[in-house]
Amino acid sequence: MKAVTWQGKRDVRVEEVPDPKIQEPTDAVIRVTSAGLCGSDLHLYEVLTPFMTPGDILGHEPMGIVEEVGAEVPGLKPGDRVVVPFQIACGHCFMCGTGLPTQCETTQVTGEGMGAALFGYTRLYGAVPGGQAEYLRVPQAQYGPIKVPDGPPDDRFVYLSDVLPTAWQAVAYADVPQGGSIAVLGLGPIGDMACRVAQLKGAGRVFGVDLVPERLRRARERGVETYDLRSFDSEKELVAAIRDETGGRGPDAVIDAVGTEAHGSAAAKLVQQGAAVLPRAIGGRLAERFSVDRLAALYTAIDLVRRGGTISLSGVYGGMADPMPMLTLFDKQIQLRMGQANVRRWSDDILPYLTEEDPLGVDDFATHRVPLTDAPHAYETFQKKRDGAVKVLLKP
Ligand SMILES: NC(=O)c1ccc[n+]([C@@H]2O[C@H](COP(=O)([O-])OP(=O)(O)OC[C@H]3O[C@@H](n4cnc5c(N)ncnc54)[C@H](O)[C@@H]3O)[C@@H](O)[C@H]2O)c1
Ligand SMILES: [Zn+2]
Ligand SMILES: [Zn+2]
Repeated sequence: MKAVTWQGKRDVRVEEVPDPKIQEPTDAVIRVTSAGLCGSDLHLYEVLTPFMTPGDILGHEPMGIVEEVGAEVPGLKPGDRVVVPFQIACGHCFMCGTGLPTQCETTQVTGEGMGAALFGYTRLYGAVPGGQAEYLRVPQAQYGPIKVPDGPPDDRFVYLSDVLPTAWQAVAYADVPQGGSIAVLGLGPIGDMACRVAQLKGAGRVFGVDLVPERLRRARERGVETYDLRSFDSEKELVAAIRDETGGRGPDAVIDAVGTEAHGSAAAKLVQQGAAVLPRAIGGRLAERFSVDRLAALYTAIDLVRRGGTISLSGVYGGMADPMPMLTLFDKQIQLRMGQANVRRWSDDILPYLTEEDPLGVDDFATHRVPLTDAPHAYETFQKKRDGAVKVLLKP
């Protein structure tokens, strides 16, 4: 089959690889019909290079049709249409039982000290072959795959794998009071969708910040009060402008939907790039043990949120020695909540909104739908934010 493989920094290629097979009785194999490209894939493309192995199959946002199931997957049969969550979880351990499949005790990558295995996401997360491919082996298929109805286009459901539950969890963790205010930093797919979910859940005012014109425009068209970071001399000024709109206090909650590759700090960028060009072993250790994060967005969130408010981090961070302004966090009494999205924790709450009325605008959320074989170009376009690329779906 054809699959998108990682070959090196900023080097992905579509290659012929062996078809996946059922290996465990709890496996399924699906024929992938759509697979999203995610901001998280861009971290692999560039800064998480030390944790990748050439040939790794990328992708964690797939949906498709069940081809084959193992003996212990009673709920699925060939022909079923399913969306596959980006994390692999068993559904019956203590963590899955408390609604935290990202911490599944059956699939935790204990050798690396990490939580549940993820599709297509470095050896830290189990080096599991990903879903940007014609076929995908789905471990723990008795729990993960979400069955969806036949009929509507893939676009209606594909974001259940990651974007929707991530945005949903970001808003749930932000815990905005009814009619309250929320600022979303970063208007990529995750931030854009988080704005939509916040509106749906009754936030009074939603502020959105980015520095890419068409991303700002998309949010503005749906009623978000947008701020272009480039039009301020410093983050301080941006913070002051949003504070002015919120009685001088700052919003009740801030979602950081940017993560480690924030624009804003030149010095940290050098350290981070250093980690990506060092020899693999040293680079890996450096990236794990020392700060590799660019913290501009997180610092803005800490400054911006009102006293006693909540910061909800969905952007991915990976450093070990990041300087945190503990005095401010403590003094402002900030609540900080974060983590990978627990997909099955939220998927049943989201499904009722994936209807003809399309309140979240999923049907035209994708800006690009391209053949799998165009993946190398799609990665570059998405990373460089060219050509209006916000959400790209690969079509095997
Ligand atoms: N927690 C989870 O489960 C989960 C799931 C999916 C994605 N993520 C993470 O969420 C983040 C966003 O993902 P995405 O797919 O939307 O990616 P993306 O890279 O398209 O979006 C990031 C956006 O942030 C903007 N940005 C950069 N610096 C900024 C700053 N200082 N202030 C405001 N905006 C800034 C960029 O212009 C871009 O539009 C990534 O870190 C990704 O890894 C987390
Ligand atoms: Zn993703
Ligand atoms: Zn589990």
